[in-house]
Amino acid sequence: MKKQLLVLLIAIFIGFGTNAQTKSSETNVLVLIYSQNGGTYKMAKAIAEGIQDYPNTKATIKRVPSINTKEKLNADVEKLPIATIEELANYDGIAFGSPVHFANISADMNYFFSQSIPLWTSRTLEGKPATVFMSAGSGAGKEAAILSFWNILASHGMVIVPTGIMGTATLDKTIPQGNTPFGATSLAGSTGTRPSQSELNLAKEQGKALARVASGLRNTENIKSVKTTSAETKIDINKTLKDNNIVLPEAPKPVGNYVPFTISDHKVYINQVALKDGKILNPGKVGATVTEDQAKEATYQTMLNVIAVLKEACGGDLNKVKQCVQLTGYFNTTPEYTQHAGLMNSASNLTALVFGEKGKHARATIGAASLPINSAVEIQAIFEIE
Ligand SMILES: Cc1cc2nc3c(=O)[nH]c(=O)nc-3n(C[C@H](O)[C@H](O)[C@H](O)COP(=O)(O)O)c2cc1C
Repeated sequence: MKKQLLVLLIAIFIGFGTNAQTKSSETNVLVLIYSQNGGTYKMAKAIAEGIQDYPNTKATIKRVPSINTKEKLNADVEKLPIATIEELANYDGIAFGSPVHFANISADMNYFFSQSIPLWTSRTLEGKPATVFMSAGSGAGKEAAILSFWNILASHGMVIVPTGIMGTATLDKTIPQGNTPFGATSLAGSTGTRPSQSELNLAKEQGKALARVASGLRNTENIKSVKTTSAETKIDINKTLKDNNIVLPEAPKPVGNYVPFTISDHKVYINQVALKDGKILNPGKVGATVTEDQAKEATYQTMLNVIAVLKEACGGDLNKVKQCVQLTGYFNTTPEYTQHAGLMNSASNLTALVFGEKGKHARATIGAASLPINSAVEIQAIFEIE
């Protein structure tokens, strides 16, 4: 019993911790890389050094997960913490690093960004400064690779920080160097120790330039206010649902002496489980009979049910939603299970996708010994409506 209570407390802590939006007095810059053999990581360390040279600025190096989980990574890279796509929102600036793969960015970094649709549609990264550095072999296609990375950052509305002619005054021109006006690169397959001292100097300059922009922009709230006041950005939820092929189910009917929702002081209170077509989707216990993928699918279905009920509460017009205030996810898990936050992201991402800025919510996740009708998940939701 004591053990279960401890697991429950840890799960609540993890649930809150993952979503915490900390605003410290320091400028926080993320250096996010994919690196297989360590070349990009060496450049990342120089970028981080440059960032930290800027006053009152902290750099954190993380990596994106490998698509191929059996892939052998450089031992130092392997030890780096893995970033989630959602956490990009928490930094004041981001330096992205990738190897050049066929004059493009690595598939792993590309895959990471393919999960950024909720951030994209909610315009979360808009106005956030970003820069790109790379590690190449001979350097063939290195500029095209940086520019292809810029396409993603531009789509997110990020402020791209280029390198111009930074560092070229001190460039050792006796050997080939990876300098470009777009970002630092290293010619890992070229002569001499790589990254060369000139390549590292340029990376440091680039890090400092990003920190300067991040520090200058971090307290500007104008982007947020433009987003919420501009008439052209008024989002029609029905269009968002259609554009994303999201079909809401029929709102599940109550099976006892209660109602599917209550409204008090413009707040709607809803509880749902993973019902689909009258049956529980993927019932059972996560960590025993239900896989994480099945639990995520059940969580997504549960959130669809919540939104379907919410639509009823809004008299059929989801555009009346002002804010998703809080989501609480209960998961039917084994006592040892700790990855509740990862499961709950299926609900949080759907909410962000459907409601954009208004979908940003506080969140808790909790492990339970059992749930009604053996559902793997139950979600309690609070929305504010007009
Ligand atoms: C699939 C693949 C494609 C590559 N394509 C290029 C390329 O187009 N141009 C280039 O200069 N190097 C290319 N390389 C070499 C890598 O960019 C180089 O080894 C880099 O330093 C690897 O970075 P890492 O040590 O961080 O993994 C390629 C390597 C791989 C595995």
